[in-house]
Amino acid sequence: RAYIRSASKMMRDRLSPGYLELVRELGKIADAMGLEAFLVGGFVRDLVMSHKNEDFDVVVEGDGIAFARRFAQVHGCRVHSHSEFGTAVIIMEDGFKIDVASARFEYYASPASLPVVETSSLKMDLYRRDFTVNTMAIQINEKSFGTLIDYFGAQRDIKAKAIRVLHNLSFVEDPTRVFRAIRFEQRYGFSIGKLTSNLIKNAVKMDFFRHLSGRRLFSELKLILEDENPIGAVDRMAGYNLLPFIHPDLDFGPEKQDLFESVKEVLTWHDLQFMDDSYMKWAVQFLALFHGFDQDQVDAALLRLEIAPKFHDLFYEHRQYGRQCLYRLEREEKIINSELYRMLRLLPTEMLLFLLARAKSKNAKRRLTRFLTELKGVACLLSGKTLKQMGIKPGPIYKKVLDAVLDARLDGKVFTFEDEMALAVRLINNANA
Ligand code: CTP
Repeated sequence: RAYIRSASKMMRDRLSPGYLELVRELGKIADAMGLEAFLVGGFVRDLVMSHKNEDFDVVVEGDGIAFARRFAQVHGCRVHSHSEFGTAVIIMEDGFKIDVASARFEYYASPASLPVVETSSLKMDLYRRDFTVNTMAIQINEKSFGTLIDYFGAQRDIKAKAIRVLHNLSFVEDPTRVFRAIRFEQRYGFSIGKLTSNLIKNAVKMDFFRHLSGRRLFSELKLILEDENPIGAVDRMAGYNLLPFIHPDLDFGPEKQDLFESVKEVLTWHDLQFMDDSYMKWAVQFLALFHGFDQDQVDAALLRLEIAPKFHDLFYEHRQYGRQCLYRLEREEKIINSELYRMLRLLPTEMLLFLLARAKSKNAKRRLTRFLTELKGVACLLSGKTLKQMGIKPGPIYKKVLDAVLDARLDGKVFTFEDEMALAVRLINNANA
């Protein structure tokens, strides 16, 4: 039996007015079509736990695609639908997305020719999900707006801080759930339940991951590495002996744990310093995970994870060149700004941050932070256009002059536009002499 209570106060208190209004609008469309509609999954879990979550997942008992289309028609937005799955995504004008799924009524012939049993389609939909904490639903139709439905003890498990599967075949159905269990456990400071833990051990023993595509494995790992506590999660993966599914030689010993700690510090510093997290956090973590691997081992891991070719430079050329840079940064006595700039500008942010995490000496740390905070964004004031206006014939001289002016600026030898112009004129005259 479902545990039912009102969550409308919680919704009013924890949802911003705009989102609350949107939920009501969704409910009104369901009412107009005579459908029962619910918010489900991670959104409800996070609402109950007061965690921020703006991913709306709606389940409609009936035709979810028709529901999404009607909503879009009334509110002037777009819909992408997948008829084979009965799912749709509503894309609001501002880009906000709402996932919609259809739950269909299912009929079960019970034994001994008793009448056919009709099971609530919502309940069946929720039963197919990964963990109890993800199985709550909140009705959004006007008449029962905010009714929280909990069939499988989600609230009990949230109180007990436990991640539990709903049935013994959960990891057989979908082995990626093993990684999800670890991610949720670490994110919320929960523990994986005893039976669930045994099922994970069994999944490892029976190698359920053999047929898991690299793409899916990679996307789960990426989520883990981008979540708040990747160290705890990787430690758990190591504990369950899951790392060898990425590469047989992958480990998480004390040295690598230290490296992860250091990566964490660097990323926190970077994000605070620049208020910018547009770089690929997961890639920095993967560099740490693969630290100590030779190129063949990295090759095999990238292949297993089906990591797209566009990321390969980072793990091949940049990794190798980064290593050489770090060697110089640690050892060379004097590196002037322009040299530092020329050395490091070829590396992407992900590698620079990884090098900073690896740097041992004060010198290397100072040099890397100087590059990131002071030098990386430096540009000279004059440009190719200025040279053209000066009547200089376009050719290799442009690059020579612009590079020299930039070097002079980096090394504090020019300050104003006039300084730069004077230098440019001198260089051009020298070249012509
Ligand atoms: N789900 C599942 N098995 C999976 C992936 C997802 O059963 N392998 C279910 C879960 O019940 C989940 C819902 O589908 O609540 C939506 O999935 P997703 O958006 O990936 O997860 P969230 O729970 O919203 O988690 P997150 O906060 O990380 O997005």
